[in-house]
Amino acid sequence: LYGRRMPANSCRVMGLDFPNRVGLAAGLDKNGACVDGLAALGFGFLEVGTVTPRPQPGNPKPRLFRLPEAQAVINRLGFNNEGVAQLLDNLRNSRLGGGPRAPGAPVLGINIGKNFDTPMADAHADYLYCLEQVYAQADYVTVNISSPNTQGLRGLQDGPALKTLLERLKDAQRRLADAHSRHVPLAVKIAPDLEAAAIADIARIVVQTQMDAIIATNTTLARPQLDRHPLAGEQGGLSGAPLADMSTAVIRRLADALDGALPIIGVGGITDGAQARAKIEAGASLVQMYTGLIYRGPGLVTECGRALAGEQAGG
Ligand code: FNR
Repeated sequence: LYGRRMPANSCRVMGLDFPNRVGLAAGLDKNGACVDGLAALGFGFLEVGTVTPRPQPGNPKPRLFRLPEAQAVINRLGFNNEGVAQLLDNLRNSRLGGGPRAPGAPVLGINIGKNFDTPMADAHADYLYCLEQVYAQADYVTVNISSPNTQGLRGLQDGPALKTLLERLKDAQRRLADAHSRHVPLAVKIAPDLEAAAIADIARIVVQTQMDAIIATNTTLARPQLDRHPLAGEQGGLSGAPLADMSTAVIRRLADALDGALPIIGVGGITDGAQARAKIEAGASLVQMYTGLIYRGPGLVTECGRALAGEQAGG
């Protein structure tokens, strides 16, 4: 049923068994409405969401810009989604999410966020609510504190705010693990726009609070390699090829600071097998992609699967 397209490259990360190391990044299937089709492309894991407690429309259009000359996208979607209840309903009605995972099935991650109109002082309540709601249906849960399109969100990456939020989520995870007799790993997703000192702080805090993984990175507010592109001035997060080196540099810094304490999921600008390999060489255990898929299509999944399994393209 699963994985016919991909060379086997199974691995254990966060205590979960992955059929291969190539994943779909969050934001493509925000409502978990397409997981069966996406699973058929050969992914070793799918991350759905970001989902928020209540449905919300996101920012006014236009809010998504293609920069094909740069193999890049700028988006300011703003967490448009149908709410956590609808996402869970969609998953329940899918083959992948509807029951125990079949052999070779991709791992299913659910990425959670806050509603745009929840005050930052109450942000933790949105994350806790989503964590509780999705716990039973997720293989792992990602705490998204790095979208540039929800005002104030990235402030949750600052030391004291981060520590408080992750401690609360860790407490909830412990309580839920008891109640469900199952530990669902928590991953934290960070931005690429962080100074070395901030990355070191984050690394220390995710170890202290016993997070299960860190995902690096989300989109950037910077505009590397886009000089004079007519769309470079659009507000939002930049993804795709221009993000690749920035994201890999963050992974390398994190790997240094973490020294193996927890695994890194590498994402940002993977447009070919060599870029996927660069993320692993920088210290990632798994990779994810979004923008590359838009320009290269599903063949990119297989190409990266082969590159990471050590085969030649077409081999
Ligand atoms: C994203 N990304 C994203 N990330 C996240 O955690 N939650 C989300 O809802 C979204 N939404 C989203 C929408 C669009 C249109 C894009 C292009 C991206 C970020 C994404 O998961 C990834 O971290 C970055 O795009 C970098 O990877 P790529 O796209 O360069 O492979």
